[in-house]
Amino acid sequence: METLNFLTPEIVRSAAEKVGTPAYIYSQETIEKRCSEVLAFPNAYGFNARYALKANPHLAILKIIEGKGLHFDASSEYEVMRCLHAGIPADKIQLTGQQFPKKHLKEIFEAGVLFNACSLRQLEEFGKNFPGSNVSFRINPGTGSGSNRKTNVGGPSASFGIWHEYTDQITKIADKYQLKVTRIHSHIGSGSDPEVWKAVAEMTLAQADKFPDVHTVNLGGGFKVARMSSEKSTDLQSVGEFVKQVFITHASSTGNEYKLEIEPGTYLSANCGSLICEVDDITDTGAEGYKFLKLNTGMDTITRPALYASEHPIILLNDSSETEDYVICGHCCESGDVFTVDESDTLTERNVAKANIGDLVVIEGAGAYCASMSLKNYNSFPTAPQLLLKDNELKVILAPQEIQDILAPEIVPN
Ligand SMILES: Cc1ncc(COP(=O)(O)O)c(C=O)c1O
Repeated sequence: METLNFLTPEIVRSAAEKVGTPAYIYSQETIEKRCSEVLAFPNAYGFNARYALKANPHLAILKIIEGKGLHFDASSEYEVMRCLHAGIPADKIQLTGQQFPKKHLKEIFEAGVLFNACSLRQLEEFGKNFPGSNVSFRINPGTGSGSNRKTNVGGPSASFGIWHEYTDQITKIADKYQLKVTRIHSHIGSGSDPEVWKAVAEMTLAQADKFPDVHTVNLGGGFKVARMSSEKSTDLQSVGEFVKQVFITHASSTGNEYKLEIEPGTYLSANCGSLICEVDDITDTGAEGYKFLKLNTGMDTITRPALYASEHPIILLNDSSETEDYVICGHCCESGDVFTVDESDTLTERNVAKANIGDLVVIEGAGAYCASMSLKNYNSFPTAPQLLLKDNELKVILAPQEIQDILAPEIVPN
């Protein structure tokens, strides 16, 4: 049976009274703890950690993480604007995006944001606009890591980064625009295969050697975090020690001592957030069918289960000593809005406390890629409010959305 991470039933009740359900709650203390763990990553020739803010970009979270001394990796020009709005200095922000910036192009790079080119076209555009600048590039090292195609972002089936056989073309474009390649980057996905991650470190170092001005090698994020009690988190110290030795061995044969950078998202935020909700209904499909537990939240608020078949601990807060198997589903009018499916999209049952309508429920491991990745306002359900738990006090950091907030931007032409 799964247990609560940082919440207590009393805190959940008081959050529900304050803003209703569903609502996200984040723990400042846990975020700070994770930052300290990341900052202790072993290294040989210097180290920097970036937070991949796509995981959870709330301004309050960014401020906490900046306060701990981390830098940031943004995945769009709009995430860069979010960082600048939070008062984060431009030189602590890197843009690694699938789409080249347009609207804020001048504003962000003239301010000093670092650019990590993710395609040859992006590198060319950057060169045209900012000749003579320093630049980084993201390489697709030819292999990836991820539990399925949707979480694997390296190898031939991934469009992310510049294919590893095209480094001559990078040199050509850099020469054409007097760009200085000072950093190299790889991120292969949020998988659980440390062997692949380690092999990519060696391969990225070899690529770095082709560019004489490179001083920093960024190995991305993708450190697995156990959400379910049956899973195992990456041991940052042991992966870090291995990577440190790879850097030392590489330096002893090439003389190139590279600074290491990593940019986790999940590791920093996944278990720092929980989604609280309620049992809305219990139905069944007869003796040969299933018993369904319907929650008052779903894929509009937490999309990972429907998108990736991701498992999250689901804990019912009641005094029942009995348990029961349920297919747990969300409140959207979609047969895909189910929390308990396997990777082949087959319904699975979860054994939880025997439920009553109105029971409070906690969905754990909801701090990363949950609020940020939600299908906001599907079925016109309001966006869930967010709370920060700080020194045992709950502070509202995103106000509940009302139906008027959803309707206000919509225009009916005359
Ligand atoms: C470029 C880049 N860096 C870092 C991350 C963070 O990955 P994770 O949250 O698995 O640590 C991502 C996630 O997709 C990414 O695309």
